[in-house]
Parts: sequence; C-alpha cells; structure tokens
Amino acid sequence: MTATVIDGKALANQIKEELAQRIQTLKNKGVIPALTVILVGDDPASAVYVNSKHNTFTQLGLKSDVLRFPAETSQEELLAKIRELNNDKTLHGILVQLPLPKHIDTNTVIDTISPEKDVDGFHVSNAGALMTGNPRFIPCTPYGVIKMLESQNVNLKGAEAVVVGASNIVGKPMALLLQKEGATVTICNSKTKDLTSHTKRADILVVATGRPEMVTGDMIKPGAVVIDVGINRGADGKLKGDVEYASAAQVASAITPVPGGVGPMTIVMLLVNTIEAAERA
Ligand code: GUN
Repeated sequence: MTATVIDGKALANQIKEELAQRIQTLKNKGVIPALTVILVGDDPASAVYVNSKHNTFTQLGLKSDVLRFPAETSQEELLAKIRELNNDKTLHGILVQLPLPKHIDTNTVIDTISPEKDVDGFHVSNAGALMTGNPRFIPCTPYGVIKMLESQNVNLKGAEAVVVGASNIVGKPMALLLQKEGATVTICNSKTKDLTSHTKRADILVVATGRPEMVTGDMIKPGAVVIDVGINRGADGKLKGDVEYASAAQVASAITPVPGGVGPMTIVMLLVNTIEAAERA
C-alpha cells in the first residue's frame, strides 16, 4: 500500500479562500482583524514560526504586529505589556510564542491574556471550556488536524485514535477533540510502556513528541491514517517529522508530509480564531 498524501498546504489555501468573504464583511464594518504576537528570546525555530504567521496575516490584509523582547526580559515586564494589550480595543488576538525562557512561568503569562483575545486557546478558562464541550477558541494545531481528517472523510465515530504526546498545546486538546467526534482515545507519553502495542491498534495515529522519526512503519496498523505534528531540523539541514515518512507511507492509508502537512494548517486555524475574535468583538 502507498498512502494518500494529505496536502496541508492545499487545504490551508482552500480555507484561506473561504475566509476572504468574512474578512471583507468585517472590513465593510470598519474592522480589521488584528493580532499581536509576543516573542521572547532568540529561539531560531520560534522566529521562523512567528515570521510565517506574520506573513500569512499581512498577505490577507489583516493587521499583525510582532513585539520582540530580549531573553532577559522579566516576567513582570511581560505581564505589564500583556495587560496593556488586553485593554487595546483595536486588538482582537494576543499570542505569546512558546517556549518562554526558563525564568518565566508559562501558565502565569498565558493566564494573564484576556480569554477573549487568547486565540491560541491556551488560557486555563479556554482549556476548561474545551474540556466541558463549549469551546471559545480551539488550539490551532489540533483544530487543523481535525480539519485535515474531515477533508479525507475519515470516520472518527467508534474509531481507535492514539495520540503520542501529552502536551497542553497539542496532545491533550487533540485527544479531547477526537473524543468529541466519537473516537476511543488513548494518550501515550514518554513513560508509556510498549508504545508499539498502542500505536499498532490505532485507526488514527497522531504523533506530537518533538522526537524526530520516532514512529516507524512497523509501529503502524495497516490502513491507519497517520498525522505527523513534528517539525525537526535534521543534522543534514532537512526538516523531518516525528514519523519516519518512507516506512510509514508503505503501511498507512493516508499520511501528512513534513513540511507541508500540519504546519500550514496551524497557521490558517490561527487566522480562523483571530477572525472569529474580531467578529465577536
Ligand atoms: N509554540 C509551538 N506551537 C505553538 C503554538 O501553537 N502557539 C504558541 N503560542 N506557541 C507555540
């Protein structure tokens, strides 16, 4: 079997086209959806993601500001800036790029963002709203994965879904969304014993570990749908996923590539969330 490639870039472009009308309607009312991204320190991967988000927003005529702070910035300084942005009525979304430097408490920073502007959906009240089935903002990466599965007409009802990785950003919200669609969900983490015994059962396998090519074809159930959330820079300079693509594509029925899979979808779902925030404001 050779897997169908799920083209995240094409799907992201299609969603962007569908958003054009909503953007125009807002503009007709004098509203330009506006996002401010805060980047602290000089993590090279974060700088690439932030630039990508900024370029996508400006290409579609949305307002995007990037505030860059040095790595030594104090937590209080950061919180003061977020409080100022919370009070800016022309601003609809605030995103603090993660990871933050170690001296800063991530949860304190995220929970200082106004939940109405938390387009990442990471604020504790937004995480709770998702958990209790009435989400305000769905975190962009798992939201994008659900859209990819929908685009392939993957039946989630009664399906075995396995999520490898239990982060607040991807793994946990991913599991909640799959469960909401009727899947039976297992979340694996770095302590999981015999990972393969879980991954081999998965009709839908989502891998978000940040460990390059850790899931190989022999760990995958024949015919499974494989979603690779990882983006890792190999020693050869090439981008690699958390799944070993060549072996996985021999076994899966459908698979996302890296790059060009989940990455573009994450950015487009950030657009969706920011437009929604502007529509609600
Ligand atoms: N770092 C990696 N992914 C994300 C994301 O989706 N949002 C933020 N804020 N930081 C990230």
